[in-house]
Amino acid sequence: MKILITGSSSGIAFLTGITLSSRGHFVYMTTHTNEEAHNLKEKVDALGLKIMVFKLDITDNEDRKILNTLDIDVLINNAGIGVGGSVLDLDISDIRKNFEVNYFSSYDIVRRVGNRMIKNNKEGKIIIISSLAGIFPIQFLGSYCSSKAAISSMATSLRKELKTLKSKVKVVLIEPGAYKTGFNQVMIDEVDKNITKDSVFYHYKNKIYKDLNKMFQISEKKKVDSIVVKIIEAAESSNPKYKYRAPLLQRILTKIYLIFAK
Ligand SMILES: NC(=O)c1ccc[n+]([C@@H]2O[C@H](COP(=O)([O-])OP(=O)(O)OC[C@H]3O[C@@H](n4cnc5c(N)ncnc54)[C@H](OP(=O)(O)O)[C@@H]3O)[C@@H](O)[C@H]2O)c1
Repeated sequence: MKILITGSSSGIAFLTGITLSSRGHFVYMTTHTNEEAHNLKEKVDALGLKIMVFKLDITDNEDRKILNTLDIDVLINNAGIGVGGSVLDLDISDIRKNFEVNYFSSYDIVRRVGNRMIKNNKEGKIIIISSLAGIFPIQFLGSYCSSKAAISSMATSLRKELKTLKSKVKVVLIEPGAYKTGFNQVMIDEVDKNITKDSVFYHYKNKIYKDLNKMFQISEKKKVDSIVVKIIEAAESSNPKYKYRAPLLQRILTKIYLIFAK
């Protein structure tokens, strides 16, 4: 299969890309910057893998145009950022920045690739890396959590729309729990930075930072394997599930949360 992954220079998508390639798929691993593309190309070459690597800044409309020309069986919409800070502190421009990557640009990628898959009568798959944080919102991470809730909601709508067409294109949502890729630490550090002297939370700043660090230290899985396995399963299965969640404990806790949240 021909598989395109966004934001694949690091973390979950890096391991997913090289694993899919070593399993015989033709993989396009795309990156945020040219420098990352160069470094990633060196890494995959050193591994002896034939992977097409190029820059695809998903917020850049010109970069996204390449998606109108590529033959893609499976899209893995992974690139994401997390802007940390209180709902009462963050500026609307911060929220827009978060949504620009996690929602608007991702939405446009799904739109472009989805249309091509349907017009070419493909049995394609659109895999969206959302987050359990879209279901289970976390204090001081409201911008990130709401962006993931939004992209999950878009995926569900699209899935229902495709039933009208009796389309062979499948939509899959991947909802990872916390993994230690560095992604969460960047968000937590931003929470700290964004609680300034003007904030109503200023006197609680140290405690907030400490508590968030503790929460992620306890919850983060050190290895991303358990979620990568799910993404591979979704990409390769002829009949994938709609939602995949991992790791196990966070999956169970989310189920319990959803029962009591009703
Ligand atoms: N780690 C977790 O606990 C966790 C939990 C749930 C969901 N997720 C989701 O999983 C996905 C991957 O996260 P990760 O943990 O593997 O962290 P990561 O290594 O930081 O992956 C995010 C990737 O997205 C890239 N990216 C950011 N903005 C981009 C843009 N405009 N265009 C193209 N690429 C861009 C980043 O590149 P740069 O570094 O150059 O910006 C980075 O390679 C994200 O969508 C995240 O929300 C992660």
